[in-house]
Amino acid sequence: MNKKVYAIILAAGSGSRMNVDTPKQFNKIAGKSVIEHTVSIFDNHPRIDAVYVVIPEFLSDEAREIIDSIKLNSKKNTKLVIGGSTRNLSTLNAISKIPESDALVLIHDSARPLLSTDVIDRVISALDNYKAVDTVAECSDTIVEVNDFSNIVNIPNRSFMRRGQTPQAFHIDVLKDAYAKAQINSDLSNSDDCGVVKKYLPDISIHCVYGSEANIKITHPIDLVLADRLFMLKSEVDDDALSTSDPISVDGKVVVVFGASSGIGEEILSSLNAAGSFAVGFSRSIGGVDVSDRKSVAVALKKVHDKYGRIDAVINSAGELNRAAVGPDDISYELNIKSIEVNLIAPFIIAGESRDYLAETKGHLVLFTSSSYTRGRSSYSAYSASKAGVVNLTQALSDEWMEIGVRVNCINPERTSTKMRKVAFPKEDSTFMLTAREVSKLAVKILTKNITGQIFDVRRNSDFIEMS
Ligand code: CTP
Ligand code: MG
Repeated sequence: MNKKVYAIILAAGSGSRMNVDTPKQFNKIAGKSVIEHTVSIFDNHPRIDAVYVVIPEFLSDEAREIIDSIKLNSKKNTKLVIGGSTRNLSTLNAISKIPESDALVLIHDSARPLLSTDVIDRVISALDNYKAVDTVAECSDTIVEVNDFSNIVNIPNRSFMRRGQTPQAFHIDVLKDAYAKAQINSDLSNSDDCGVVKKYLPDISIHCVYGSEANIKITHPIDLVLADRLFMLKSEVDDDALSTSDPISVDGKVVVVFGASSGIGEEILSSLNAAGSFAVGFSRSIGGVDVSDRKSVAVALKKVHDKYGRIDAVINSAGELNRAAVGPDDISYELNIKSIEVNLIAPFIIAGESRDYLAETKGHLVLFTSSSYTRGRSSYSAYSASKAGVVNLTQALSDEWMEIGVRVNCINPERTSTKMRKVAFPKEDSTFMLTAREVSKLAVKILTKNITGQIFDVRRNSDFIEMS
């Protein structure tokens, strides 16, 4: 008979190195808390029979809500265990709840939400031949061992060094045996579980399988930034990890597209209509809508809502690429203010006016940024600053609108051959640029996804999204 496989997700830490009040595992990334991402990987894995989540004794209201929703949505009847003051004590509490003496157990840090399912497969397979298994990655940095005075005492050969990740997996009898010995020695402050087995059962071979570079542990604030970008990559490659629900169909959906008279907006409009949506476009030349004018945006949205009785998504592709210096003259001033109005104020207006319509349908807002958001460029300061603002607006709104169920995402196309671009850079060769059609395809695809708060990079000749 197959042995029962347990997953223990350790989530009782306080995340002190993160320097925030709420423990890091309750932080939101890509529309869900870190711990929800992590638990769902195991909850959806066919080889896992039961999931135990080890949680802090005292939970904030917000954390309690997250835990309740994990329990409610779990397919495998996730059980909760109260953790201890050290990681080892948290493990101990969980393994003592496992009744079978021949079970297999995988122990994973909740702070590693980017674990891929193939690593779980490898770890479980290795348990056929070994009693204990660690997940590791190679070391790119040289490891130096120091003494209390920060002087080097040893530099081990890097080719034999590995970085320990999780899951770590065990035959439960071995792990319990090691922990019983550690308990006798009051030694429950080791940084992981393989360490306990290694110390107290030195004759047991602990086999290493490869994890992945993406399987990072969210530890310091910068890791949240990295994880956010990694999720973006993963979203195209591995949809399941991000969304437990089926793709959302655009067929029959009512979509409002601002900036629809040319370029990307025009293509989005026709792609959506071809996919069976009711897409309605506006621009200064279609319907006389100026996106930086609140009233005209409000009237446009109301018109669509009156006609169809609903609005499922709003996409804003309107933008203006003006070249202007920053100086005391009126011309510079006017051009910069105009650019900020169209590129930044307008997304605020569209978001604000769309909110209640989108809340009704649990809909989706899609904005556009540009690669200049990561770095301002000479003569395009207002444009780059506005596009950086749109990225922050996307992230802030996705958070703010989580509770009303509205998704907010942003597309960052690399140079795209459009009329706007030709006017701004007449000498540029467009042969190697993205086409508006390629970008529009992605915009439609994003509408089908149940994710929020993401900045999607679109690159030429690339079916999936890469990090910039
Ligand atoms: N963990 C736990 N119980 C503890 C300590 C840690 O369940 N008493 C969990 C954490 O929630 C985390 C994993 O073990 O998912 C790895 O630990 P670590 O990254 O060190 O997290 P924290 O201890 O929370 O963070 P810090 O060390 O910065 O305080
Ligand atoms: Mg810790």
